[in-house]
Amino acid sequence: MKDHFENYKTITEYEFDEQLSIVKEWAISSLQDTGKPPTYFVRTFGCQQNDHDSELAAGILEEMGFRLAASPEVADVVLFNTCSVRANADNRFYGHLGSLKPIRRGGRPIIGVFGCMMEQELHVETVKRTFPYVDFIFGAGDVRVLPHALSDVLSAGTGKRKTVDLTHCSGLGDDTSLPVRRGDPHRALVTIMSGCNNFCSYCIVPYTRGRERSRSYEKILEEAERAVKLGAKEIMLLGQNVNSYGNDLRKTGIADAPTFAKLLQEIAHIDGLWAVRYMTSHPKDLSDELIEVIGREPRVESHIHLPLQSGSDKILRKMNRRYDSARYLELVRKLRSARENISISTDLIVGFPGETEEDFEATLRVMEEVRFDAAFTFLYSPRVGTPAADWFDESQQDIVRERFMRLVEYQNECSLASNRALEDKVLDVLVDGRSRRDDTVLSGRTHDDRLVNFTGVLRENTSCLCNSFADVCRGDIVRVAIERANVNSLDGRLVKDD
Ligand code: SAH
Ligand code: SF4
Ligand code: F3S
Repeated sequence: MKDHFENYKTITEYEFDEQLSIVKEWAISSLQDTGKPPTYFVRTFGCQQNDHDSELAAGILEEMGFRLAASPEVADVVLFNTCSVRANADNRFYGHLGSLKPIRRGGRPIIGVFGCMMEQELHVETVKRTFPYVDFIFGAGDVRVLPHALSDVLSAGTGKRKTVDLTHCSGLGDDTSLPVRRGDPHRALVTIMSGCNNFCSYCIVPYTRGRERSRSYEKILEEAERAVKLGAKEIMLLGQNVNSYGNDLRKTGIADAPTFAKLLQEIAHIDGLWAVRYMTSHPKDLSDELIEVIGREPRVESHIHLPLQSGSDKILRKMNRRYDSARYLELVRKLRSARENISISTDLIVGFPGETEEDFEATLRVMEEVRFDAAFTFLYSPRVGTPAADWFDESQQDIVRERFMRLVEYQNECSLASNRALEDKVLDVLVDGRSRRDDTVLSGRTHDDRLVNFTGVLRENTSCLCNSFADVCRGDIVRVAIERANVNSLDGRLVKDD
C-alpha cells in the first residue's frame, strides 16, 4: 500500500468518524442557512473498481448530509475519479476539469480529484500547477480520506489557498461499514481484491493500484449477503485478476485462505441471487477448479471476460502475459465443454510496439478460432513508466490504425453472428431502466451479459405496484422475445408468462 511513500499515513476508523462528524455539522448548518442540503456530483472515468470507489464516495457524502446534484454546474462539491489506463482517459479528465473554471466563483463548487492519475507524480504536479482551483486530491481507492479532505478545505475558508494534497494518506480499509450509494441497487459491485502483481509491460495499473491485496473472505460474503437482502439480484465480484484471489493471504500464513473458485461457489449459493459475475479473469491463472464451478453452478453467469490481448506468441511474451495462444485456445475449449453456450468476451490491443503484419494476422487467426461473442478493442497507448512505452514507434501509427479497422470489422461480424443466433428465442432479462438512446425503450442484460432493448413502461416506484402487463421496475427479471440482433445489442418485446 502506497509503496512509493516513505511516510504514508493510514486513516483510522476513529479519525474517519471524527472528520465525518465535522463535515456533517457544516452540512447541517448550511441546510439551516439556505433551506437546502448541500449537493455533490461525481464524474467517474475508468474501470468498475473506480465505479465502485465512486459509489463509496457518494455513500460517504450522503452520510455527511449531501444530496446528489443534477449536474456539476449546480453542485456544491464536484469530484473526479480518474483513470490512467490509456491516453484518452487522461485527456477527457483534463477537458472536464478545465470546463469547470468558468463556473467556479468564490470557492464554489469545491473541487476534488482522486483515483489512479493521482497516484502518478506527473499528474499530481500538473493538477496542482495548471488547475490551482482544485481544492483537494487523494489517491486511488482511498475514499476513506474524503471527510479529511473536505474538512481541511472547509476550515480553510473560501480565500485563495493551495490544493490540499492527501496523496500520501491511505484510506483503504477492509470493513463493510463504509456507507455506499449503489448506482444500480439491483447490481451490486463488490471488490474482492485491489492492486495487481502481473506487470503486463503496457499497463499502468500495478503502478497506480499497488500490489495485490485480497479482502477477507468473510467480509466479502457478509457484504454480498447484505446487498442481496437489500434487493441486489446480481453481484459483480471485482479485481484486476480475480483468479489470484487469496494468493497474498496464503503467502502471509493464512494457508487455508479460500481460492476464487470457492468464493464464487459460495456467493452463487446466496438465496435470492439471480447471477454472480466476476471481472477480470487472467488466462494464466484460470484453474480447472474454477472451470468446474463455472460449469456446475447455474447462478454463475453464463459468460466470461477473458482478455486475450494478442494472438501472437512473440507479442504475448513481450507483453509479459505468461500464456501463449495454444494455452488460451485450450481454456476456451475447456470452458465451452464445461458450460454449453457460455459467451466469451475479450480485450484486444492493436499496435503493441514491434507488432508486425504476421503478429497481427496471428491475432485474427485466434479470433477466427474462438469467434468471440464480444470484444473491447484498443489501440496501444504508451504509458509513461511502463517498459513498453520505451519501445513505442510513432512512425507505425498509420499501419496500426488500418489494422485496428480490420480487426474491428471482423469482430463486428462475429458479434452480430453471435447475437443473430438468439433471434426468435425468449430470454430472461434483468431490467436496468430506460435505454440511454431512447426514453420510450427499456433496457437490461441477459444472464450471459448481452444488452437487450425492449418496449415497456418503467415504474419508478420501488415497491413495484405494477398494474399492467407492460409495467416493469428496475431490478425485475422479465422474459423478452428477441426480434432483432444488432452488433452490440438485441431488440425484443416483453412476453407474458401463462
Ligand atoms: N486487469 C485486467 C484489465 C485491466 S485494463 C486484465 O488484465 O485483463 C483493461 C484493458 O485495457 C486491458 O485488458 C487492456 O486490453 C487495455 N489496456 C491496458 N493498458 C493499455 C495500454 N497501455 N494501451 C492500450 N490498451 C491498454
Ligand atoms: Fe494490467 Fe496486466 Fe494487471 Fe491486467 S493483469 S491490470 S493488464 S498489469
Ligand atoms: Fe483505470 Fe485505474 Fe481502473 S488506471 S482501468 S481506473 S485500476
